[in-house]
Amino acid sequence: MKQQAHIALKVNGEPVEVSFAAYKTLLEVLREDLDLCGTKHGCELGECGACAVLLDDVPVLSCLVLGVECDGRRVTTVEGLVTDGRLHPLQEAFADLGAAQCGYCTPGFLVTAKALLDKQAHPTRDEIREALAGNLCRCTGYQQIFEAVEAAIEAGAQRAEADLDVPLTSQEKAQQ
Ligand code: FES
Ligand code: FES
Repeated sequence: MKQQAHIALKVNGEPVEVSFAAYKTLLEVLREDLDLCGTKHGCELGECGACAVLLDDVPVLSCLVLGVECDGRRVTTVEGLVTDGRLHPLQEAFADLGAAQCGYCTPGFLVTAKALLDKQAHPTRDEIREALAGNLCRCTGYQQIFEAVEAAIEAGAQRAEADLDVPLTSQEKAQQ
């Protein structure tokens, strides 16, 4: 009989409990037990980056992490990049600038780039290149990907400014 594991964790901000065969990787638990198929199944050898997710805000290759190691931890997948129905600036920039072509590598690039921008608001091109060095893309030649990350930095700054400019509602004014 297969040994079962049961863990409680947060996935994309939501508390989740899940049972699965104890040998499964985080990649398999996400895709097969939690129905989160945005994270892609590539080499399963830690070489392509397609399976990257954030574990406690740090990029990891989910094909190399056992599901049982994630008890009590926070996992962020590409599905968690959308906030209040709004795409993350990285997602918009990847779509607008041709950084996602076949798209198989894209979730891994997006979460890895998000971790970089959360840690460092204005990375240089070399820092972006270094942060994304573990993610492989067969389609784009990488140039569009680096440009999309830079465009997302700009768009994110503009979005933050615009959000600050949103006029207060009458209720908010009354509370001032
Ligand atoms: S599937 Fe995990 S690194 Fe390739
Ligand atoms: S867009 Fe096809 S592998 Fe990157």
